[in-house]
Amino acid sequence: MNLSTQDAMPVAEPVVVARELKQVYKISRGFLHPADHLQAVSGVSFTVQPGKTLAVVGESGCGKSTLARMVSLIETPTSGELLLGGVDVVKASPQQRHALRRTVQLVFQNPFGSLNPRKKIGTILESPLEINTELDAKSRAEQARAMLALVGLRPEHFDRYPHMFSGGQRQRIAIARALMLKPALIVADEPVSALDVSIQAQVLNLLADLQQELGLAYLFISHDLGVVRHIAHDVLVMYLGHAVEQGEKKTIFAQPLHPYTQALLASTPGIVGAGAAKKRIVLTGELPSPLSPPGGCVFSTRCPHVIAKCHSERPPLRELSGRQVACHLAEQFIQPA
Ligand SMILES: Nc1ncnc2c1ncn2[C@@H]1O[C@H](COP(=O)(O)OP(=O)(O)OP(=O)(O)O)[C@@H](O)[C@H]1O
Ligand code: SF4
Ligand SMILES: [Mg+2]
Repeated sequence: MNLSTQDAMPVAEPVVVARELKQVYKISRGFLHPADHLQAVSGVSFTVQPGKTLAVVGESGCGKSTLARMVSLIETPTSGELLLGGVDVVKASPQQRHALRRTVQLVFQNPFGSLNPRKKIGTILESPLEINTELDAKSRAEQARAMLALVGLRPEHFDRYPHMFSGGQRQRIAIARALMLKPALIVADEPVSALDVSIQAQVLNLLADLQQELGLAYLFISHDLGVVRHIAHDVLVMYLGHAVEQGEKKTIFAQPLHPYTQALLASTPGIVGAGAAKKRIVLTGELPSPLSPPGGCVFSTRCPHVIAKCHSERPPLRELSGRQVACHLAEQFIQPA
């Protein structure tokens, strides 16, 4: 039988499709900032496939958590399109939104603040089942115990309180809680930033194992490219609410074409990318306020390669050398193979 590739392997529906997502916050005018709005995310598009990790990277205030809040349905985008499992989030009925909420779960940075100190771990894990399912107490307890084992904790931990655990163990509990409703997507906002480096690796390994085992997709937010290197399949680099470079991790790490990505990579210990290694680019100057972003290229006030055109024309995000990049001069940074 001569099966075409399409017959043999049906293409899976993306877990997330975001098109031109924007989030604009209304703010009160101040003496130093006459603007009455702040554009936290300025038209960002991406796709997350089942079983894959998209890492969103960038400095503080670039819009990472805002993106996370939109994808996890905590905030509605000001404009743009967001599909979760093919369902349009903005146009969804209240019932559809309720169902979608179960398919996306959040893991936060601070494992100390995100667990109720007065509840035992077993109760914390059973709670999503109690609220969202018809399961009886025995089945809930069974599933909670099974999840405890899956994240590498022991049966006796079931009856203990959060304060009895280390930071890494608490993050395991937070991950277990996020998995109780069998989501398709985990949105993890800096999930290992508060942990010691040695513990970070253990939690990242756990996330990778769970992804393999359960086919989970991750939207993984981090300011640390050293962490991203371990976990990501794809990378979205943001600067002041804009996507400046995005594509497969291996392509971008091997040869970053945006000066901002080059600077981030050059400043990350242990990462030697072809472009970044040769010239160490140091990020200088203050990050501009998102209340008054520069005209033209958003990176123009800090870019070592800036030319006159960069101040007047915003470079569009365009396909180049296997990724998307928003820089007028990106061709110049392509290294011969
Ligand atoms: N509710 C809000 N109202 C007004 N401005 C907001 C609101 N939430 C976030 N912002 C602003 O939007 C911008 C993006 O914030 P966001 O929290 O998404 O950044 P981030 O990349 O997650 O930063 P960090 O790395 O510090 O967590 C920031 O300038 C922030 O001050
Ligand atoms: S467009 Fe100009 S300012 Fe922006 S990153 Fe490219 S060279 Fe730098
Ligand atoms: Mg954040």
